[in-house]
This record gives sequence, structure tokens and C-alpha cells, in this order.
Amino acid sequence: MGKDKTRSVFKPVELEPSLIAADFARIGEEVQSVVDAGAHLLHLDVMDGLFVPNFTMGPSMVAAVKRVAPELVLDVHLMIYAPELHIDSFIDAGADEITFHIEATEHVEEALRHIKKRGCAAGLALRPVSGAGLIERLLPLADKILVMTVEPGFGGQAFMPKMLEKVRQVRSLAQTMGCNIDVQVDGGINAKTGKECVVAGANRLVAGTYFFSHSDRRSCIEVFS
Ligand code: DX5
Ligand code: ZN
Repeated sequence: MGKDKTRSVFKPVELEPSLIAADFARIGEEVQSVVDAGAHLLHLDVMDGLFVPNFTMGPSMVAAVKRVAPELVLDVHLMIYAPELHIDSFIDAGADEITFHIEATEHVEEALRHIKKRGCAAGLALRPVSGAGLIERLLPLADKILVMTVEPGFGGQAFMPKMLEKVRQVRSLAQTMGCNIDVQVDGGINAKTGKECVVAGANRLVAGTYFFSHSDRRSCIEVFS
């Protein structure tokens, strides 16, 4: 699915389950539950053990998820060094969106341009320590800015309220520059913290633990509809 087609189905606020928190022993059923819950997107966290001290999944998982649920928009979050070396393998596997970290490469503009040239949505992610100013000149090249609301590397961490100011700054920068981008948050998102992020200007909410540990997964999606 190309970028424009995927984005046309988005609601004003999208709750995006994050696969990292799913039961990997039942991954097919877990992905199907995302579809059944009414989600439009699935967030896939890719980690290399270097940029973050953890390992998760690669292009083969993206391809498997695409086979199970071709209707889901697959949002791949690369927490890896030198992401530019791996963009094509994730897109070839079925990724609809690729987000990488500004701290992980010197080839930021080249990587953004390449993702868009491949017809996918291009996102730029900021670790908690990285200020919104870093992305100002890059906003015209991005479709999405991901503000990490935890230190990247693991699901189940506590939300960092100090990141709300950065969400406000990113949204304000985008509005000032006339850039129609998604502002995404990722880490410790639930009904309460998600609402706080929406008020601050986020429209894409990534939730792992909140969604996959909830007894009524559909209600997690609907609370933001
Ligand atoms: C951190 C991961 C997590 C994950 C969501 O690197 O990116 O933020 O997506 O995990 P929860 O929602 O459990 O914090
Ligand atoms: Zn993520």
C-alpha cells in the first residue's frame, strides 16, 4: 500500500498497537486480534542490540505479519544504527512506513528521501534526550515525527511526562512551517497518558502493554475514536 493510500484511512487520532508487547508464541493470533479490535496500524519495533540494548525482530517478521493481515498499515520503527542500510529490506518485506532515529545515522536527509522515493511514509524519531530543534530543518522531508516518551529499548516502561513539552514544540514547529505531518508518541501510552499527548498535539499513539495486556482490546482503540 502506498503512503497516500494508507494515510487516507487514518482517523484524527490513531491508537497503534505495538507488537513488541504481544505473545510471540502466538504471534499470528495476536496480529489477528489487532485487526479484530479495529486498529488500522501495527507498530513493529526493530532493535539491533547496539542503538538500544535489546533485540526484537527483522524483515521476516514484517513479511509474516503482512501475510496474516495485509489490511494493516505496518509502521516499522528502526531502533538501529545505520538504518539507511536496511530500509529496502523492510520495505521489500511489506513495511508501509519506516521511522528511524536522528541519533542513529549521519545520512538523515538521504534516508528520508529514499523511503519516500519507495512510496512509503518517512518518519524521524527523537530519543528523550534529543530536542525538537534537531528536526526543524528536516520537517519538510518527513511525513511523521516520533517523540519517544520512554528511553527506547523495552516495552512496559513508565511514561515520561516531560516529553509532553516536546510534543507541543514539534506540533507548533509543524504548524508554523505549514508541514502536514503526523506527530507520534511511543512508550508508556495508555488511556490517560494518550489523552495528555493528544492535548499536546499528538495524533498517533503507539501502545504495547496497554493494548496487549487489556481484557477488551477493542476498547483501547475506541477510546481514541
Ligand atoms: C520502546 C518501545 C516501546 C513500545 C511500546 O523502545 O518502542 O515504547 O513500542 O511499549 P509500551 O507501550 O509497553 O511502553
Ligand atoms: Zn516503537
